[in-house]
Amino acid sequence: MSCSFDFKGKTVLITGAERGIGLEIAKGFAKSGANIVIAGIMDEEFPNAEKEITALGAECFCIHTDVADEESVINAVESAWGKFTKIDILVNNAGINKLAPAEEMPLSTWQRIMDVNLTGTFLMCREAGRRMLSAGGGNIVNVASMSGLIVNPLPQTQCAYNSSKAGVIMLTKVLANEWAERGIRVNAIAPGFTETPLTAKRLSVPDDPAVKKWIGGTPMGRVAQPEEMVGLVLYFASDLSTFTTGTCVPVDGGYTVL
Ligand SMILES: NC(=O)c1ccc[n+]([C@@H]2O[C@H](COP(=O)([O-])OP(=O)(O)OC[C@H]3O[C@@H](n4cnc5c(N)ncnc54)[C@H](O)[C@@H]3O)[C@@H](O)[C@H]2O)c1
Repeated sequence: MSCSFDFKGKTVLITGAERGIGLEIAKGFAKSGANIVIAGIMDEEFPNAEKEITALGAECFCIHTDVADEESVINAVESAWGKFTKIDILVNNAGINKLAPAEEMPLSTWQRIMDVNLTGTFLMCREAGRRMLSAGGGNIVNVASMSGLIVNPLPQTQCAYNSSKAGVIMLTKVLANEWAERGIRVNAIAPGFTETPLTAKRLSVPDDPAVKKWIGGTPMGRVAQPEEMVGLVLYFASDLSTFTTGTCVPVDGGYTVL
């Protein structure tokens, strides 16, 4: 067993790693020796992400991928496999959110959030998982959310997001069970409120009532920085966690203990 975050020679496919938490996770793996495949929709962010990752000495391959689209996912996994001849680690990080009171939530909004967050995670797991199984194993880390474990206080009305992330946590358990004896571990992290482009607009509003509640409800009294999500993902993907599968660990400054 290697007791370190040594990913030399490994290929890591990360969805939505053009920016935010995903980019920090990609950089964490790159610093530890892995080569990176970024699968996402923000093509305009690819050059910057590629620059940041290659500056760390890693190879970086970006593929336009809509995780909610089956053909796009099949193409991404095939292209990654074609480029590096394997995928050792899959990180499902792509995610979206849109708030609306439940009684006004348009079906199209609900559906898109489910399609990206839950179905996208499933499709990526299915396609990469099939290849990992035939190659003898692999490792999957899903980026869920503490919103998959708790209900956010009002005025945060996000029934679709929370339901989708709860689904990701259950999918993590189901896949962990199905693939445990065939060499694939599947775990999830549940970030708390994190300063990224997804939350930047809200965080920039002074005295925003939702932000006040997030910070007030967090024992550590602050939001997270994206790099604070990296350690747990690398731990789950490493040989330091060989008996850990099907679990979901919050990284939330203590929010979910209250
Ligand atoms: N920021 C937070 O407070 C927070 C808290 C808990 C969980 N999360 C989760 O962390 C993950 C990353 O979020 P972030 O805050 O870095 O947000 P972000 O908006 O900065 O990044 C999301 C990434 O997902 C990609 N993406 C969106 N739709 C996609 C699609 N259809 N196909 C492929 N890629 C797509 C985007 O291109 C982007 O790179 C998400 O799953 C989010 O739900 C974030």
